[in-house]
Amino acid sequence: MNHSGGERSNRFPPFDFWTSNWADRLLLPGLYRPGGFVYVLVSPNFVADGVSRSTRPESTGSFIEMSESSSRSLKLPTASEVIVFKDSASACRAAADRIADVIRQVPCPKLGLATGSTPIPVYAELVAKYRSGSLDFSGVHSFNLDEYYPISPLNDQSYRWFMNHHLFSHVGIPANQAHVLDGTVPAEAADEHAAQFERWIESAGGLDLQLLGIGRNGHIGFNEPEEMALAKAIDLPTRRIELHPVTRSDAAPAFGGLDHVPTHALTVGTRQILKARRVLILAFGANKADAVAASLQGPPTAQVPASLLQTVADRVVWLLDEASAARLVGS
Ligand code: PGA
Repeated sequence: MNHSGGERSNRFPPFDFWTSNWADRLLLPGLYRPGGFVYVLVSPNFVADGVSRSTRPESTGSFIEMSESSSRSLKLPTASEVIVFKDSASACRAAADRIADVIRQVPCPKLGLATGSTPIPVYAELVAKYRSGSLDFSGVHSFNLDEYYPISPLNDQSYRWFMNHHLFSHVGIPANQAHVLDGTVPAEAADEHAAQFERWIESAGGLDLQLLGIGRNGHIGFNEPEEMALAKAIDLPTRRIELHPVTRSDAAPAFGGLDHVPTHALTVGTRQILKARRVLILAFGANKADAVAASLQGPPTAQVPASLLQTVADRVVWLLDEASAARLVGS
């Protein structure tokens, strides 16, 4: 396998995803650049009324960056980048390109991976890159976000089954480098298993990239909405949790009815998610629009777990489709 990443050479803009320089962009408002980008100044008070800016990173103004091709970028003070694609397929291709960049550029990359319907096309793109010989997974170490509890890895609703099916069994990642929380550990050992999983991430040096979806209720992993002080909410350990009613109801069709949905799960906590060196969060469809707006334009709160990403805004990139971005004020 080669790491040269031939796909990169034709990409525009030429700035790297993780090192893109907003200061440079701010110097060029209104200028057309060859390659199809226009920088347009919009209201500097882009953040929704009633939302305190005091808890937010400093903003230098708000821009919409428009592409003549398939995406536009919103400049919000609550994330490093917010990119709205014309459809979810384009967003997933961009996500896969960015993950591939990390795999090629970081020695021994540590990835935090997500499940759910959202990232399935991302994994398909990564498998295609592997099959074309442009991506090598032999040095990748992955840590999945969550798993139902209890559940067998043979159950096709388990996240171990999902990851084997959509990624692991296709890309030659060594079995002892592809970690998923174990839904079969004895009840009395579940807490210790979760703590041990967190220690594995720590001893691997933390996550180079965390891939996330978002629940309709704003959850990330299975960190569910709760009443809790902010300081505690951003420091939650990997642990066993009780699933939120919205999460269980959304999972009911896949499990053949609400009664078959597990009541509990294991999840990586906000502490590790927020320590990741890069966070890539994907949201598609109108049913995610409220959660996206609350996460990016509401206050950081335990009641909308994805809003906690605002506390590490400079490391977070949101990839949206038009439907999930529809409730962002000013978009
Ligand atoms: P979904 O789930 O991708 O199936 O919508 C996302 C999530 O709950 O994180």
